[in-house]
Amino acid sequence: MAGPGSGTRVGILLSGRGSNFAALAAAIARGELPAEIALVVSNVADAPGLARARELGISTRVVDHRESGSREAHDARMIEALAAAGVEWVCLAGYMRLLSAPFVEAFDGRILNIHPSLLPAFPGLHAQRQALEAGVKIAGCTVHFVDTGLDSGPIVAQRAVPVLDGDDEAALSARILVEEHRLYAEALRRLLTEPWRIEGRRVLFGPRERGGGPSE
Ligand code: GRF
Repeated sequence: MAGPGSGTRVGILLSGRGSNFAALAAAIARGELPAEIALVVSNVADAPGLARARELGISTRVVDHRESGSREAHDARMIEALAAAGVEWVCLAGYMRLLSAPFVEAFDGRILNIHPSLLPAFPGLHAQRQALEAGVKIAGCTVHFVDTGLDSGPIVAQRAVPVLDGDDEAALSARILVEEHRLYAEALRRLLTEPWRIEGRRVLFGPRERGGGPSE
């Protein structure tokens, strides 16, 4: 297995706390993920996740969306920074903006996000609150490919978490977050180490079944 400091070059986009980024970095440090984090980009200069990246000695870059005229102009600056760092895969980790079509095309099929619900239920903000308000008994998290929509790309992996009667938003969020931290690294590792393909909306792992008759 590839150790830390080698493997696929991953770029992280974050806007806040950055615990999912830190979980990916920890999985890499433990030798569980054949990747290295080449750059952490944030649109928020004082995001705690950026400070954590600096502590870990990982390159960081602030691309403030308020300084760019349009979403496309902002994303073009991010593409430039990520490309200059040799980034091959992009992981969103609490990145609070939609991506433009040119960004999605620049990293076509190599952008992931983690979301704290069992998509397609409860996309968007406050997914855990949405789950409590809907009264579901099972919540969870989803790693999915990113398109230009809101939490709408093909699903790579999901993990279920029970909703308990005493839960408030903080308790449910904390229980889901534990699984987020495991699931993100596991999903990325599968994508980097196993054959996979997308058929329709489904992400399928393993070698393609060879159809065919006796002559094959
Ligand atoms: C996580 O709940 C993630 O699923 C969602 O935003 C939150 C980010 O948390 N997309 P963190 O910044 O990774 O701690």
